[in-house]
Amino acid sequence: MSDIPTIEFTITNDNLDTGLRGYPVGTCETSYVDPQEGVSYVGYPIAELAFSPAEDIIHLLFNKSLPTDAERKGVADDIAERSEVSAEALEAIAAMPMSGHPMDLFCAAIQILGMTGKTDDYYEDALNLVARIPTALAVIFRQREGWGERIPSEPSRGYVNNFVHMLGMPGGDEAALTRLLSVYYNLHADHGGGNLSTFTGRAVASGLADMYRSMASGMNALAGPRHGMANQDAFKMVREVDTEDPEVAYQTLKQRLADGGLIFGFGHAVLRQEDPRAKVQLGVGEELCPDDHWFKAVKAVREGGIRALKENPKVSNPYPNVDLISGSLVNALGFTDPDYYTTLFGWSRISGIGAQIVDERTRARNGRGVAIYRPRYIPINQPQRSIDG
Ligand code: MLT
Repeated sequence: MSDIPTIEFTITNDNLDTGLRGYPVGTCETSYVDPQEGVSYVGYPIAELAFSPAEDIIHLLFNKSLPTDAERKGVADDIAERSEVSAEALEAIAAMPMSGHPMDLFCAAIQILGMTGKTDDYYEDALNLVARIPTALAVIFRQREGWGERIPSEPSRGYVNNFVHMLGMPGGDEAALTRLLSVYYNLHADHGGGNLSTFTGRAVASGLADMYRSMASGMNALAGPRHGMANQDAFKMVREVDTEDPEVAYQTLKQRLADGGLIFGFGHAVLRQEDPRAKVQLGVGEELCPDDHWFKAVKAVREGGIRALKENPKVSNPYPNVDLISGSLVNALGFTDPDYYTTLFGWSRISGIGAQIVDERTRARNGRGVAIYRPRYIPINQPQRSIDG
């Protein structure tokens, strides 16, 4: 383990009930979020990794190095070998109530995969889940959207193209979808140890719950509107604003703020500049859907939102985060129901959370693993009493 820098952090009353903001509580070997530069995976800035094969990101997060050509093929072969989902699991996933929200189906599918295939080895279960979740998510899409029978997995296509193949989106452009979802996968895979979904997964695993239970917990955390579900709410907001004119977007969002409304897809607990993941997505949009109305609309919202938020001196970060633009891109390529957007985020984040749980359970504290999370809460409104009066 590399030397841990000396940290001094004084907790005062002002830190209570602040969501642990800024508290150093553990170590992370997979990624770091710099307030100015944004996220890097094992030291590589995200903008340098955005267009890599997904197999490179999986290798980097789990092995802490970018793969050689041979190692990249090894990742693809390993995922192929792990990717089979049992008939029992497929039947159970397809039988779920498709009236449910896609994130509820996604979280339940993770538990079904655990019930039918866990090994109780954190590393094995993490990679098995990375390999099998695309099949499960494709079944959810096809069953819930009525796109037809399940399309069998063809792992030799590569991790992302096989997912696009299994989705079999009617009218979908396979090449464009593979391009977009490959970048999408890389951008959403990891974001330090403290984001809510990762922190939750690590916390649940600290009680020695298995990978599937821990991951399902993390994905339920991701389903919160302040976290991963912000991408669906950001796109719904873009559709409400519905303009390609930055001035109109500015006036609309300024009024929304004045009325006490929320603006989704801006700001961040750690970042103090525009999220580099948002900048990469802008470039992908100019490449894949430059003339799409909603892509033009989200660019207007981006410009108008920054301007409106900058007028409030209390806003520490008026800039877009990863969630502002992603919805307009996946919508342009055929994912027209925002309720699915967080499942795509979860599909990717499973790799980062999985790698961090493996690290915390098997590498932290010289391999002893981290103790069960047990932070201290200060009692209030509890004067000493006795039932005897
Ligand atoms: C993420 O990628 O998890 C989000 O930006 C939220 C966070 O980092 O807290």
